[in-house]
Amino acid sequence: MSFVLPLLDWYEVNARDLPWRSCQTPYRIWISEIMLQKTQVDTVIPYFERWMDRFPDIATLATAEIGEVLSIWEGLGYYRRAHNLHKAARKLVLEGQGELPQTPEELIRLPGIGPYTTAAIASIAFGADVAAVDGNIRRVFSRLFNVDVPARSTDGEKIIGSLAEQFLPSGKAGIYNQALMDLGAMICTPKDPACDHCPIAQECLAKQLGLQTSRPVASPRKKVPHLTVTAAVIWRDDQVLLAKRH
Ligand code: ADE
Repeated sequence: MSFVLPLLDWYEVNARDLPWRSCQTPYRIWISEIMLQKTQVDTVIPYFERWMDRFPDIATLATAEIGEVLSIWEGLGYYRRAHNLHKAARKLVLEGQGELPQTPEELIRLPGIGPYTTAAIASIAFGADVAAVDGNIRRVFSRLFNVDVPARSTDGEKIIGSLAEQFLPSGKAGIYNQALMDLGAMICTPKDPACDHCPIAQECLAKQLGLQTSRPVASPRKKVPHLTVTAAVIWRDDQVLLAKRH
């Protein structure tokens, strides 16, 4: 039997109650996916709520000043993401649609949206049959199918990507992707997976071989380069000179 049905059944009961899930609009899903690119779910939640209070739709975001956008983002890090959201909102409004495009081909042309985010938005917001493979999902597939090459290598990405597509239930990609994300976050965790509570433990090859904590296989560590650098700090009294980079 495939793992898909028990996984989706488990998700129906155990899905995390997240603010971008309770009221699903393409705009909310877009913002959440950008915030989640580099940041943990628990950290994102209050930022997401504040963002939605201030910028409830694309038009409001497009007309806001970048300074205000950055002030709502302050503390989340990787500020390029906020710049790109603002730029994308302006582009959508200027080009007349004022809404997120629905196809992966158009989504990926927006600033800040790469292949993973395209797949996440297209499947969750628009029901496209595409697999979105993030770190959690990579770990789940590495274990389920006992992938014995580094998960982040070219071969590893190819193997895991095609497994994720091969099992994708047509018309249900959004919940399939999110069920795999939640399983990875709550059960199939990196260090101490809760296999006793896993709805698909019976299908898990790594578990059968006792290899679950050895999967995913890590890539060999890159040597840390040693650089000789010179830095200067300019100050007067108790003030330090800072320059803003654009
Ligand atoms: N991480 C990235 N996207 C997510 C989502 N939609 N739900 C939960 N975790 C995520």
